[in-house]
Amino acid sequence: MHKVIFDTDPGVDDAMALLFLHRHPEIDLIGITSVFGNASIETTTRNALFLKQAWGIAAPVAKGLGEMFNPDRPHIDWPTGIHGHDGLGNIDVPDVIDLPLDHRPAHRFIIDTVRANPGEVTLVAVGRMTNLARALREDPDIASLVKAVVIMGGAFDVPGNITPAAEANIHGDPEAADAVMTAPWPVTVIGLDVTSQTVMTRAVLADIAERGGKAAKLLADISQFYIVFYEQHVDDGMVVHDSCACAYVVAPELFRTRSGPIRVLCGGIADGQTIQKPDGRLFPPNAWDNLPSQKACIGIDAEAVLKLIGDTL
Ligand code: BDR
Ligand code: CA
Repeated sequence: MHKVIFDTDPGVDDAMALLFLHRHPEIDLIGITSVFGNASIETTTRNALFLKQAWGIAAPVAKGLGEMFNPDRPHIDWPTGIHGHDGLGNIDVPDVIDLPLDHRPAHRFIIDTVRANPGEVTLVAVGRMTNLARALREDPDIASLVKAVVIMGGAFDVPGNITPAAEANIHGDPEAADAVMTAPWPVTVIGLDVTSQTVMTRAVLADIAERGGKAAKLLADISQFYIVFYEQHVDDGMVVHDSCACAYVVAPELFRTRSGPIRVLCGGIADGQTIQKPDGRLFPPNAWDNLPSQKACIGIDAEAVLKLIGDTL
């Protein structure tokens, strides 16, 4: 059983990933922490509570602080054209959800939960890396207590999706992402190299909605706006970025990884770019030296991952 804290900015593809974690028999979802990204922190937190209530998820929700890791950086605009003004495809989520939040901020929830379950917790982060970086800054020793960190973010051998160089989750708080990638904990980065190959067609989603009960029907409703956006990029359907990171937790054999230290560019025209120094390659002294080797995903069996997601939902 994998104990998972899901750090998320729901977000349409985040909603699918949450339902995957809730329904997969080998996942014990022990917490949901909200972060800004697809919408403001108020909206993503409200959405996390909405999905928790709609799907009967037991895990507590802890709200992120909503501040950039580097306070001198402005927030990036919310992508309302992709996820809708309500972050969930304009399905008119109620303004207020009558459920309590955990009393701690997200980064404190992460620290306490990791310390209470040493060596057992997998952090799956599919929004900005802000909460994880803040948890590390406040308690660096948690790095040795976490079982694994799995991130949806970055673009290594392919262009970004928010600039030619950068993927949105990394670009939205680059200093936080660099802190997470360079910390001494085992990170696997599931980026656009593999997620952009993982496209769920409209027909498959409709089949899931039919077979997966009320929860899957809600997911299909939420996804329609996002599918219309993705019509500019794919023939049919939606790119299921965040579910790929969740699939990796239970089926890493469906992914091919490359090892080496990873840095995030902070500033300049390639702000937010992820760059890996492959292990074994020799260079003069550089900013990747003496850092932990992390894994970047560079290959995926997309068909098998989509089947795993569909069967689970
Ligand atoms: C990532 O950015 C967000 O729009 C998605 O939820 C996903 O986590 C893809 O770049
Ligand atoms: Ca996300």
